[in-house]
Amino acid sequence: MMLKKITILFVVATLFSCNNGFSEKEKEEYTLKGKEIAQASFKALSTELMAQMKAGGPAQAVPFCKEQAGPILNEVASKYNVTIVRSSDQLRSCKIEPTERELDIINNYKNSVAKNKELKPIIEIDATNNKHFYAPIIVKANCLVCHGKVNETMSVKTDSIIKLTYPFDIATGYSEGDVRGVWSITFNE
Ligand code: HEC
Repeated sequence: MMLKKITILFVVATLFSCNNGFSEKEKEEYTLKGKEIAQASFKALSTELMAQMKAGGPAQAVPFCKEQAGPILNEVASKYNVTIVRSSDQLRSCKIEPTERELDIINNYKNSVAKNKELKPIIEIDATNNKHFYAPIIVKANCLVCHGKVNETMSVKTDSIIKLTYPFDIATGYSEGDVRGVWSITFNE
């Protein structure tokens, strides 16, 4: 009888040790995969962006982002069989809307930055059984040209170039180290 109780306890404990429906092993695998995909996406975007900035400054790089950021991300996404979104609570492009979960995660990351805590990627399964990876997008010095504080780290001219294309832009005012948003990757398999 005692043994049976212990066995049941053990089974229950094992079940609950699975994190959000993931086994520890799966969690590790998907975290690695998500990190790899986020890095590949960042690299694909920033390589192109830097080349455009060098060739023609913001006047060339901004329209390029508008036309090409989506297709560049889609290419990485189809290679890995995932959906890739760069979500934010301060969006420039109105093609996307943050989900409630993304907003929650962004707020948690902001709190962690404020408390100097480490920001870790998140892996979870939602109610419809989709697997998600989230990781912070942090503002770097070279992002400020187009996302910085107008008249301080970002020129009024660049702001007006951006406002022409994105009249409702609210993705400015950032400082280095701020949370710009999240990589939100959904695995398709
Ligand atoms: C040349 C100007 C420029 C630079 C430099 C730049 N961005 Fe952007 N960023 C844009 C534009 C334009 C968009 C809107 C793209 C679109 O229409 O899909 C954008 C969109 C984004 C988005 C998607 C969410 C949104 O608001 O639409 C994120 C996240 C982002 N940028 C982060 C960064 C980070 C991080 C850096 C630095 C590593 C950076 N950006 C550098 C111009 C720039």
